[in-house]
Amino acid sequence: MALGFLSRPKDCYLVETVRTERFKLVNCSWLQAVRTTLPWANDPDTLHALMYESTSYSRLHWAAQLDVPDGRNLFFHAIVTKDGNETIGAHRIRLNRSGTANMGIALTDKTWWGKGVFEEVRGGLMDHFSQSPRVVRFAGRVLARNVSSVYNYKKLGFRFIGHDCKSWRSPLTGELMDTMYFECLAEDWRASRGLEPG
Ligand SMILES: CC(C)(COP(=O)(O)OP(=O)(O)OC[C@H]1O[C@@H](n2cnc3c(N)ncnc32)[C@H](O)[C@@H]1OP(=O)(O)O)[C@@H](O)C(=O)NCCC(=O)NCCS
Repeated sequence: MALGFLSRPKDCYLVETVRTERFKLVNCSWLQAVRTTLPWANDPDTLHALMYESTSYSRLHWAAQLDVPDGRNLFFHAIVTKDGNETIGAHRIRLNRSGTANMGIALTDKTWWGKGVFEEVRGGLMDHFSQSPRVVRFAGRVLARNVSSVYNYKKLGFRFIGHDCKSWRSPLTGELMDTMYFECLAEDWRASRGLEPG
């Protein structure tokens, strides 16, 4: 049913705010998610890295195309600095019915690029999500030439599943690009961090 998200209960554990050393990762409502991700809508590089189909969106179009985070299967976390309370980006998790959590992240405040935010934020969210019995596996797909993301997936201990060649057409250049798939089982993640199942 199209409006099913209105009636499904939120996952009280998964919507909790997650705290890392430098950040609060705050679960967003739809409106908060629109506000937090709006800078992406006019940033061709970010849209490209996240594999959107267009190079820019109007505010209205952006709001209309952003799926509603329901606190159960779709989560947007605002990345908020503890020191200063500034929102510097957002992280998205889509949890499917098989327990796979597909993830994406973008930092809108580019002064934070190159400062290990990906590793800290992704690690904090995986600590939290891996302790839910609803989460079995983490997964990500990135453009093969997104070097810092590929590096981060490997650094976090994700397993490289494989390439698919010429599978995504860039809306910027029309070029067909390769993508890479990564996965990490929740149980392996917990073991690597010394965490117990929830
Ligand atoms: C992806 C993104 C979140 C990166 O986050 P970040 O926290 O700035 O990542 P960092 O640059 O700190 O970490 C990247 C790592 O890759 C390394 N790296 C970057 N470019 C590299 C290169 N050409 N060769 C080798 N290593 C490289 C860096 O040295 C760093 O390693 P370190 O932590 O050991 O120093 C940010 O660039 C972004 O928002 N990009 C747009 C959206 C996007 O690409 N999202 C990812 C798709 S899910």
